[in-house]
Amino acid sequence: MWDVIIIGAGASGLMCAIEAGKRGRKVLVVDHAKRAGQKIIMSGGGRCNFTNLYVEPANFLCDNPHFVKSALSRYTQWDFIAMVDKHNISWHERDHGQLFCDDSAKQIIGMLLDEAKSAGVTVQLQCEIFSQQQIADNHFSVQTKMGNYETKSLVVATGGLSLPKMGATPLAYKIADHYQLPVKATRAGLVPFTLHQAQKEKFADLSGISFPATASCEIKVGKKTKQISFNEALLFTHRGLSGPVILQISNYWQAGEALTLDLLPKLDLLQELLITQKNRPELGLKTLLSHQLPKRVVECLLESAEIISVPLKQYNEKQLQQVADLFHRWSPAINGTEGYRTAEVTLGGIDTDVISSQTMQCKSVAGLYFVGEALDVTGWLGGFNFAWAWSSGWAAGQVA
Ligand code: FDA
Repeated sequence: MWDVIIIGAGASGLMCAIEAGKRGRKVLVVDHAKRAGQKIIMSGGGRCNFTNLYVEPANFLCDNPHFVKSALSRYTQWDFIAMVDKHNISWHERDHGQLFCDDSAKQIIGMLLDEAKSAGVTVQLQCEIFSQQQIADNHFSVQTKMGNYETKSLVVATGGLSLPKMGATPLAYKIADHYQLPVKATRAGLVPFTLHQAQKEKFADLSGISFPATASCEIKVGKKTKQISFNEALLFTHRGLSGPVILQISNYWQAGEALTLDLLPKLDLLQELLITQKNRPELGLKTLLSHQLPKRVVECLLESAEIISVPLKQYNEKQLQQVADLFHRWSPAINGTEGYRTAEVTLGGIDTDVISSQTMQCKSVAGLYFVGEALDVTGWLGGFNFAWAWSSGWAAGQVA
């Protein structure tokens, strides 16, 4: 009989295992993958954006915005940084407080596996899970390819649906369903957008071009709507739009709703046009705009709005306003997202109403825990999803 079986040797599962092991619990981690923490290894372009200096509950999407507060405040970014420092892993800060390894994400998984080993944790990889049942309160049986195991606590840390090629499965939602626990509708998050065919063809030539922009969309807060905006780099791709600004807004944008992009967030373009028209009336519109944005972007946008570039003196104010609106409030024809194939995270998941925010234990099934991305908690881009994995895994590891 194990004290704790954790399904999933990813970020949250390993953190939970370390903490439970340190308490003297007999811990087994099972995972069907060949390697532990595959998403950690590929994260942050191979350098793992392992946390953020400014972790706040406001950086997370969850139907109950208070749910994340307890775990985040008890295991903070500083606690994780202390572990990284203890293992002499050098790191650096990038924009918006994002922390990355100087060398390799492999150092983070190495650190977690070292800690797990020191805490006496057993990790069983390539272990397919066939089924699990609750035999009594705090007593579960887990059937796997490697045999049947019994445990007092069962922790589900199998993550979300993104990157099915890397071994993502809906096991957490199936286990929730088995115990009749509600699951909030899931969809791909932190994901690039695809454009409708006509725009896709028009803008495909811009693939690879990147510059700062502000993306905005409307979100519902209770009965009201409010605007949410992000200001980061925009990237044109062969299929549509990506870059940090798109990944961030993709967590909030709902299919069929408008997305607005300000391509010149630091400029009052109408003022610039009016002043230049007065001072340099012979200057062509395209030339002026090409001082602010890559020329090909200017050409494509003007062409898409059927605006012909002529010397500034030939435009009236209404026409200049139309140009300013085009660049400050561009509304691309979004077809959808690239889906779980390229998404970094899954929005939605196990309804947090049925989970204790202190312990991650299921309120109706004694001894059953859910941690990490499997829950209806999604962080912004910037190290917040790992921050949640560490904090929620840590919280369950104190009691499981
Ligand atoms: P995680 O996905 O880490 O682990 C789940 C484990 O369960 C896996 O090992 C899997 O094999 C196993 N499993 C699944 N189904 C199973 C089954 N049926 N049987 C047995 N085992 C099963 N976040 C961040 O903060 N900073 C970053 O830099 C990045 N970068 C990034 C890049 C890419 C490409 C992706 C896809 C994601 C990121 N993320 C990120 C997000 C981050 O990786 C993610 O939110 C956490 O890894 C979630 O941790 P979990 O422990 O919940 O799941």
